[in-house]
Amino acid sequence: METMKAINRRKSVRSYTGEKISREALDTVLQAAYAAPVGMGKYENFHLTVIENREFMQAIEEKASAMFGKPDLHLFYGAPTFILVSSKPDGAEKVGGIDYCNTAAIVENMSLAATDLGVGHCYIWGGVAVLNANPDLVARLNLPEGHTPCSGIILGVTTEEYTDRDIPGQRIGTSYLR
Ligand SMILES: Cc1cc2nc3c(=O)[nH]c(=O)nc-3n(C[C@H](O)[C@H](O)[C@H](O)COP(=O)(O)O)c2cc1C
Repeated sequence: METMKAINRRKSVRSYTGEKISREALDTVLQAAYAAPVGMGKYENFHLTVIENREFMQAIEEKASAMFGKPDLHLFYGAPTFILVSSKPDGAEKVGGIDYCNTAAIVENMSLAATDLGVGHCYIWGGVAVLNANPDLVARLNLPEGHTPCSGIILGVTTEEYTDRDIPGQRIGTSYLR
């Protein structure tokens, strides 16, 4: 798919068959993450955890239901894979929020790659919120020293397709100073 087509067709998928994407597709998505821009090129401050442990994902979902007060919430929508992006602040506090900017860039690259491959995906902030509220769950991930969860994306086989979308012009307020 050409770049602008993928950008237009990208969407959040919230329905999954439960089947994992192929190993090859997962590797392509990870490759897209590695190609993402990060501030000052400090790639050593980021970590990806490919989570496919059903019991662990269920534990996150249960905590999410309680946290958001929605017993029927299925945070991962039946997707079998959750890629968590963690970061180590390493001076990021001096330029507030840069770790979140970096991890968003990494997730967006994975999102566009998933669109190109035709595999289901959705940015999932809820999983990050749950993890950060539950240090016992984070401990099970054995993240590298000093890293904390910042962003995440689910992946899985879907019956949905990525088709051309009508994106409303200027739905993000835009002004110019020329
Ligand atoms: C930072 C961020 C966090 C998000 N977290 C969630 C989430 O936890 N659950 C969810 O279903 N969608 C989540 N989304 C998806 C947005 O709701 C979605 O991108 C937005 O409504 C636009 O729809 P589209 O992606 O189909 O174009 C998130 C998106 C972003 C960028």
